[in-house]
This record gives sequence, C-alpha cells and structure tokens, in this order.
Amino acid sequence: MNTNCYPKGLESIQTPFYYYDTDLLRNTLACIKSFEEAYDGFSVHYAIKANANPKLLKIIQEYGLGVDCVSGGEIQASIDAGFAPSKIVYAGVGKSDWEIELGLDHGILCFNVESIPELEVINQIASEKGKQANVCLRINPEVGAHTHTNIATGRAEDKFGISMEDMEKVIQLTQSMTNIHFMGLHFHIGSQILEMADFEALCDRINELQDRLEKQQVKLEIINVGGGLGVDYTSPETNTMANFKDYFTTYHNRLQLRDGQTLHFELGRAVVAQCGSLITKTLYVKEGNQQKFVIVDAGFTDLIRPALYQAHHKIVNISSTATETDVYDVVGPICESSDVFDTDVTLPTTKRGDLIAILSAGAYGETMASQYNCRPLAKGYTTEDFKN
Ligand code: LLP
Repeated sequence: MNTNCYPKGLESIQTPFYYYDTDLLRNTLACIKSFEEAYDGFSVHYAIKANANPKLLKIIQEYGLGVDCVSGGEIQASIDAGFAPSKIVYAGVGKSDWEIELGLDHGILCFNVESIPELEVINQIASEKGKQANVCLRINPEVGAHTHTNIATGRAEDKFGISMEDMEKVIQLTQSMTNIHFMGLHFHIGSQILEMADFEALCDRINELQDRLEKQQVKLEIINVGGGLGVDYTSPETNTMANFKDYFTTYHNRLQLRDGQTLHFELGRAVVAQCGSLITKTLYVKEGNQQKFVIVDAGFTDLIRPALYQAHHKIVNISSTATETDVYDVVGPICESSDVFDTDVTLPTTKRGDLIAILSAGAYGETMASQYNCRPLAKGYTTEDFKN
C-alpha cells in the first residue's frame, strides 16, 4: 500500500476501521491469474480464512479464483459471495457433521481429509444422502518451514494430516468405501514463508510420494500444495506484492506434474495482506519514565498478530505534517500488557487526534478480531466506498 494514496474523507469515519485498497487487490489478482494461465494445470484457490470481508470476496470471485474453506461458515460465506461450489475445497482437522452435510449438499469440489475417523464419518453421511464425496487426503510431509512456530504445520509433531507411513493404507481404505471418490493429495507446510527452498523441499517430497504411488498403480487427479507464500511486512510500501514469480515458477520447475493432473494452490496472505491497513486514532501521547507511548483506539481485538505471533507491522502517522520525529511505543487500550502494536517506532511528532495506519493488515486482521472488553468490531471500507 502506498500511504500517499489514502482517499480524502478517511478522517470523518469512526475509528478504528480497516481500509482496503481495492486497486492493489485487483493488480495482485491480475498477477496471480497471469501465472495461473501461463502454467498448464495450475488452479489457484483463495484461502478465505485470511479475509472474508464480502466486498473483497466479490472482487476475488470476479477474477475466477476458487476458494479454500476450513469451516461451514466459510463455505456459506463463499457461496454467498458467488463462488461456484465446484470451486470450493474444504480442509480442517475437525469437521462437524453439519459442516460435512453443508459441503455435500452444495456439491463442493472436494474435502481435504485429515484422518481415518473423519473419512469414515464423511462416507457415512454421504451414504445417508445417497451422494459421493470427493476426497483428497491431507498428508503431513514432514517438511519444516522457516516461519513462526505457531504457523508451521508440516512437521512430524504437528496435528495436521495423515502420516506418510499411513498414506497407502488410507488410500486403500478410500477405495473400499462406497461413497468416497478419492481424487488426490493435499499438503500445507505453513504460512508467511519467504524462502523458496521450503517450497522446493515440499515439491521434492511430493515427487517422491508420487513415484511411490505410481508403482502401486495409484493415480492422482489433484495435487494440492496449500498456501504459505509470505509478504514483506518491513517495506510494504515498496514491496506491494508477494513474490508470485518465484513462487509459481518454483512449482512449475520443480514439481513433476503428471499429464492431466491439476495443481491446486491455496493462497491467503499473499492475496490480501498488503491491500489492507488498520486505521486508528491517537487518543493520548503519554510520557512514561523510560519511553513515550502513543495510545491508539485500536487494540489486539482488532489486530491480534503482534500479540499472538510477535508479528511486525509497519506503522505510519498519516495525519502529521511534522518534520521532527520521536520514538514511541504504539499501544492499544486493552487491559493486557500484550496489547502493544510495536515498540521503538519512529514517527513524526504525534499528537492527540492523529490518524495512525498499521500496514499489511489485510490478512488475518479482520477475520481474527474479537469482542473482548465488549469492544465493537472494526468495520471494513474499500477504495470504492470513497469514489464519488
Ligand atoms: N491452506 C491451509 C490448509 C491452511 O491451513 C492455510 C493457513 C492456508 C492454506 C493459507 O495460508 P497462507 O497462504 O495465508 O499462508 N493467522 C496466522 C496465519 C495462519 C494460517 C493458517 N493456515 C497469521 O496471522 O499469520
């Protein structure tokens, strides 16, 4: 997001709120689509958990992406936004019966299944409905990722997926189940990954597994590599887009896709992170003994990433024209010491009433908000709300 590009009129909106630059979102989607179209068999799904704001979903849907869901609520939100059920994939370690029913009733593209008990329940519910459930098996590839431990998912000790050891056994099981149609394999090694070597390691593992399965005459229609491509939280104004080129070419060059196979991606953060900012107002500037605090009206209820993952988001003062700067801890109003957006932030001299933008907040911001302290949820506005 280019911070000079905030529209006039922001000052009159009740803070805190999310502002989404839909021009940037469209450019990002166009870039993703160009790679999808360039490489045979590539099919990109949007991981809706990153941001389910209906205004953004409508745009993402217009660009023809599929959608990756992890709950019945997300399936419903996707359908409400106009995504075709035939483009919905559904993952998650703990799917409730009503969620499985919803997926079957809508005829979604496929369930990404994470355990034998889940497979049995899906088969059972599908047979009660006289339907076939399309299924990919989520395999834990035992590939680590260079990211925060809370968002790494593909290591042996993580709760996700079926072990590589059990893979053949579970595939055989799917083939004995009358209401399951086995389609392929699903993987996801983690999120906010910037090192292509991590994705290369996943490709190598998948190649190995495909070779193993081919010897047993098991054919896969779908390989789903999940998401995980990271964005630049340090310089979001210059690096407004994720490195889609290296990401997609890594998969194109390294993964040995078989004829007729579809390669699914489930990108969340890389699609929406950089188009969103959390806009908040300076309530007070407080001089502590050791540091100065800018106390803003947004808290971790609005954006929990710094508190939960020690995530860094660039912070800028978009009101001040001051040429002098000062160093502040930027903190929220919530009664917990972890309600800190960042420490030692250099800002132009800041005063009560100044608007502060917390950048790269388009992914896992609005969707992870809570109402702790009976705080209202921040609303989301887009560029389009300020046109005319
Ligand atoms: N597919 C699966 C199976 C996933 O679990 C996830 C994310 C994605 C795709 C999308 O990953 P992405 O492309 O966005 O990295 N709340 C955390 C991130 C949690 C990611 C959970 N799974 C954060 O704020 O960093």
